[in-house]
Amino acid sequence: STLSVEDNTLEAAAKPTSNLRSARWLNNKDNQAMSALYMDRYLNYGLTREELMSNKPIIGIANSGSDLAPCNRYHLELAHRVREGIRSAGAIAIEFPTHPIQESSRRPTATLDRNLSYLTLVEMLYAYPFDGVVLMTGCDKTTPACLMAAATMNIPSICLNVGPMLNGYMGKNLIGSGTVLWKARELHAAGDIDDEQLVDMVTRGTPSAGHCNTMGTASTMNALAEALGMAMPGAAAIPAPYRERQQMAYKTGTQIVEMVHADRKPSEIMTREAFENAIVINTAIGGSTNAPIHLNAIAKHMGVSLDLDDWDRIGFHIPLILNMQPAGEFLGEEYYRAGGLPAIVAELLSAKALPYPDALTVTGHSLSHHAKLAGQSWDRRVIQPYDKPMKTDAGFLHMTGNLFDSAIMKTSVISPEFHSTFLSDPNDPNAFECKAVVFDGPEDYNARLEDPATGIDARTILVMRGTGPLGYPGAAEVVNMHPPGRLLKKGVHALPCIGDGRQSGTSGSPSILNASPEAAAGGNLAILQDGDKLRVDLNKRTVNILVDDSELQRRREELEKNGGFKVPESHTPWQELFRNEVGQLSGGMVIEKAVKYQRIAQK
Ligand code: FES
Ligand code: MG
Repeated sequence: STLSVEDNTLEAAAKPTSNLRSARWLNNKDNQAMSALYMDRYLNYGLTREELMSNKPIIGIANSGSDLAPCNRYHLELAHRVREGIRSAGAIAIEFPTHPIQESSRRPTATLDRNLSYLTLVEMLYAYPFDGVVLMTGCDKTTPACLMAAATMNIPSICLNVGPMLNGYMGKNLIGSGTVLWKARELHAAGDIDDEQLVDMVTRGTPSAGHCNTMGTASTMNALAEALGMAMPGAAAIPAPYRERQQMAYKTGTQIVEMVHADRKPSEIMTREAFENAIVINTAIGGSTNAPIHLNAIAKHMGVSLDLDDWDRIGFHIPLILNMQPAGEFLGEEYYRAGGLPAIVAELLSAKALPYPDALTVTGHSLSHHAKLAGQSWDRRVIQPYDKPMKTDAGFLHMTGNLFDSAIMKTSVISPEFHSTFLSDPNDPNAFECKAVVFDGPEDYNARLEDPATGIDARTILVMRGTGPLGYPGAAEVVNMHPPGRLLKKGVHALPCIGDGRQSGTSGSPSILNASPEAAAGGNLAILQDGDKLRVDLNKRTVNILVDDSELQRRREELEKNGGFKVPESHTPWQELFRNEVGQLSGGMVIEKAVKYQRIAQK
């Protein structure tokens, strides 16, 4: 040895495992020249030959945090504790950046980068000598991108989220990140607050490092990563600045090393059973409408069959038991103190509502094992009893009809006002008919919303098209539209919305979302006109245009004669590649050609 640094802990903890994937690079007995070549640059920052040739696992730390990605930036700190955990368990950490995805500032939309981040992470995990990986998740799309890559690659993998921000306040009132934006936008449109107050109000929702503190898409996807068994039990809800998050970073580091020795891979954890558990848990926590898109995508890459009928059948009848914004009152700190996800799972277990209690987690123990250890809710205001929930039948409806093949509707956010306006016919209490006003994307909506010529009244359904994966591109989070100021002033807050785009997970609007096929992919949204009547039936799960088939046919022919539905040009190479290869939201919006590459680490 040319180096005499003592590391007794390391030697004591080391458990050489034969057949490590990394040994094909670093300890190739048949070709030591290649091993020397693969290894020599890693020596340049102080790793030693002995370490790299010792058959200790090489663990990647896939870091999604950077100055560009403030939601996940605290991972630059947490990675130190992950690294210490990896070291103390006798393995070697190699940290690298993932393609950043900042939900709140990436234009035109962060969803465009979920698949790009997925593709690049697969390449890195495949091409370099990793035996396992810690996936540093947080902001909305960073979590599904990582889990999709873990599924495709299928080496031992564990998620660590950055944790939610601390609570925001305005006076004594809780102000939730994201959620406050929709409220502030309405107050601003009604003329109740000025520009300065708008910015002040919105930025109070984001008071510290961490991802959104509401049950938006970030908190949802990290809860579901834990629900799937892919994160340490109890990890998801810990607020970013709390000491327990640093401690969990350390434990995540030791756990991934144990997983490599046990060869515990995503294919054993992310099973059909695990996805069914996640669907149930998503309803119980009031999870984001983006969850079906992302979970269906992860399942597709894992080779597990999962579709939107599963979401309705398995998840709709489950109650909402977490009182957290946007569906409820509280934020991340109360949720954590009430017990976080293990307390949710414990509640479902005691009601025998978790379909697969024995589903495996990263620890090698079951989801129910950890929930029983953690016990039930510490705060009944926040995590409510299963039999006295916030709302019954709180899951998503899978809608079909002649306007689209597939869309989802989140029912847990239907307000009393919406009920009394739209669901008030005693002979037909679960259906409504109203006329449509159609917008071609968010620019058109912003330009024309306040124009009285649209004819929007208290019985209008607002339609947003041209905002799907092809139309926007990437599928914009814009379907949650508010009524014009003149109606807001009269107290009309809730108009139903339909669209081929998405809705922010922090929004509380009862919208029909993710309509597939989108207008740009030949869906009938493209031929809908202002004033057309739509019938929405929540019992039958249908949305239909009440216009003659012959008239629809005539409009279709005219549209085709005029060159089809217009979408903006691609502005970057990736936008064009994305549009050429991507599927619709109902199928998870994956790169369809990528799906056939499964479990590639073994090949
Ligand atoms: Fe990043 Fe909400 S914008 S987590
Ligand atoms: Mg969002």
